[in-house]
Amino acid sequence: MTRTDNKKDGAKRILLVEDDVGLQRQMQWTLDPHPMIAAGTRAEALRAFEDGDIRIVILDLGLPPDPDGATEGLRVLDAILSRAPQTKVIILSGNADHEVAVNAVGRGAFDFISKPIDGEILKLIVQRAERMYDLEEENRALRATTDKRMPGFVFGSSQMQQIAQTIERVARTDASVLVLGESGTGKELIARALHESSPRANAKLVAINCASIPENLLESELFGHERGAFTGAIKQTLGKFEIADKGTLFLDEIGDMPVALQAKLLRFLQSRQFERVGGRQVLSVNVRVISATNQPLQQLVQEGRFREDLYYRLNEIRVELPPLRDRDGDAVVLAQHFRNLYNREHSRNLRGFTKEALLALQSHRWPGNVRELENRIKRAVIMSDGPLITADDLELVCEGKPRNLNLRDHMRELEGALLREALAVSDGNVSKAAKLMGISRPQVYNLMGAHKRHA
Ligand SMILES: Nc1ncnc2c1ncn2[C@@H]1O[C@H](COP(=O)(O)OP(=O)(O)OP(=O)(O)O)[C@@H](O)[C@H]1O
Ligand SMILES: [Mg+2]
Repeated sequence: MTRTDNKKDGAKRILLVEDDVGLQRQMQWTLDPHPMIAAGTRAEALRAFEDGDIRIVILDLGLPPDPDGATEGLRVLDAILSRAPQTKVIILSGNADHEVAVNAVGRGAFDFISKPIDGEILKLIVQRAERMYDLEEENRALRATTDKRMPGFVFGSSQMQQIAQTIERVARTDASVLVLGESGTGKELIARALHESSPRANAKLVAINCASIPENLLESELFGHERGAFTGAIKQTLGKFEIADKGTLFLDEIGDMPVALQAKLLRFLQSRQFERVGGRQVLSVNVRVISATNQPLQQLVQEGRFREDLYYRLNEIRVELPPLRDRDGDAVVLAQHFRNLYNREHSRNLRGFTKEALLALQSHRWPGNVRELENRIKRAVIMSDGPLITADDLELVCEGKPRNLNLRDHMRELEGALLREALAVSDGNVSKAAKLMGISRPQVYNLMGAHKRHA
């Protein structure tokens, strides 16, 4: 095992697993000044890996005692990925073991490069691997903080991951946020998460439902009133805006706000100043506004039922919650979450779901979104004879096929999509496509062949 001298403190190291010392040197030279550590056997490779801080591995599959096969190399790959699945492993393949290299990618390797090695391509692949590693790490870090700050906000899908990131970024600002989404998608939950992860978290979140308060009372609910302002106004009352000072005001069902009040709300948003009903004094508060609706607000604007200027004021940042049926895999993730929650709440011990129940959860359309899912699970936890929750307990019929979670199928699909895009962008020019994809021309031809076969 040899270490190159150029290891900088704290820099990311590459582990190079290659038994041919000549090739080792060539690659170290190519990737100079990258800190690198080299190993010639499986045992050396794993020891070096255990030493730590290896994010990228360049791996020759043909290692002793099986230099002409791939068994040793694949064992190294499996061992590394089972210890640290985030590691980016780049496979070195000879022409003879091309199939094996593709197979290795199917097992979780990041990419492969054929011998003889083109230094420029190797550099590109390593750069891409580093970028991917960093992005994923950033995602993980973001996800970890998100989970801490939004403990009740559960998701597994990439769609919701993106929303969590938006929330995290927007929370720091005072921008007005408009949350859109079908009924039961979690708009109120998002508003609370936004407040909780904002610098205003120590002040109040005050919510008002614009649909449930009669029109003539809504103004005084929002802005407060002076004593004697109207019949029944026996004392001065603070409005939600004042109560929410230094905190957040959540205007729920904003699409139901009467047009006359919309003008007053707009005036407030422009100046952050208002008067109580029946009052003359101009008051000012420091409030962040989040609003939500399940109505098509833009359409209401077109129909003249919602003021366009107010729409733009509320909509500085828009968060659009996708319906549950469009979130990949979230129904099952949420179902398990609610099973645990209601097991605890009702002292029950439902251990999971039957196969049919899982299929039903995945194929149901969820018109009532997360609220409907929560209600079905809650009822099932209370009613089920156990130990597993059945489709009957959920009052769902099992139809459709389970979601395909096969990693290889998904990677092949992604590979095909990237290939088609790269070829489209480069107008069918294979050299350009190869450059864009960071692989060699022969590899592009191979992919084209493979995807024609699978088409
Ligand atoms: N991602 C999620 N993780 C955990 N619970 C969720 C999630 N999304 C929604 N819920 C739960 O689902 C229920 C409905 O959510 P919420 O009230 O926020 O929806 P909404 O979009 O405001 O619905 P409506 O339009 O009917 O007012 C709540 O009990 C909420 O806690
Ligand atoms: Mg709501």
